[in-house]
Amino acid sequence: MDCFFIRQEIPADIPQIYEVNYQAFAHYDEARLVDALRDGNVFNPELSLVAVHDDRIIGHILFPPITIESPHAVTPALALAPLVVHPEYQCLGVGAALIEEGLSVCRTLGHRIVVVIGHPGYYPRHGFRPARVKGIEAPFTVDNDVFMVLALDPGALEGIQGTVKYPAAFDAIVGNGTGKCISVHSPC
Ligand SMILES: CC(C)(COP(=O)(O)OP(=O)(O)OC[C@H]1O[C@@H](n2cnc3c(N)ncnc32)[C@H](O)[C@@H]1OP(=O)(O)O)[C@@H](O)C(=O)NCCC(=O)NCCS
Repeated sequence: MDCFFIRQEIPADIPQIYEVNYQAFAHYDEARLVDALRDGNVFNPELSLVAVHDDRIIGHILFPPITIESPHAVTPALALAPLVVHPEYQCLGVGAALIEEGLSVCRTLGHRIVVVIGHPGYYPRHGFRPARVKGIEAPFTVDNDVFMVLALDPGALEGIQGTVKYPAAFDAIVGNGTGKCISVHSPC
């Protein structure tokens, strides 16, 4: 591939974002999740980025808002979900570029904590670490090594403990287990 670029989503991208999410996962759960989040009241288009090659959307990343809740505090944070690269463009660095650009935008907008449920062989290279050892729990059953957190500034996780609360749009995907991204088979 000669080159691709990353930019914020625009309304005209919506059908292609749906399609690339379907193509990457080979089912509709994440595509529908993105639409449900966009239709909800917590969607920030600045945190929905697309990778574009030859006017075609080849990848997408979204950072929906979440909270980390304890009896004493509610801490705002972001999820990284979903991240997709079209199967024809995988293993070319598109996913890595979406993560790094996305995290940069998150920092610029003042966000401090990002949580991901994903491949334990992939996200640690971008700084994510198991969340439970930092005192952060998932609201559902998930293996320790796939439930990860990243502090966007050094002190962001200090004193933070609690359970992640996802937007209601996640209920369907978590309910059937397909949102957990637990495959560890690299396509590369
Ligand atoms: C996971 C995904 C986003 C990675 O994007 P990508 O552009 O193909 O990945 P990159 O080119 O940035 O990175 C490739 C590297 O990541 C590794 N990698 C990719 N997918 C991996 C996975 N599922 N598990 C472990 N490592 C993985 C590759 O082995 C490769 O390693 P190398 O650099 O040592 O050769 C993409 O494969 C995809 O869309 N998969 C289907 C949807 C999905 O699983 N999304 C993530 C949900 S948590």
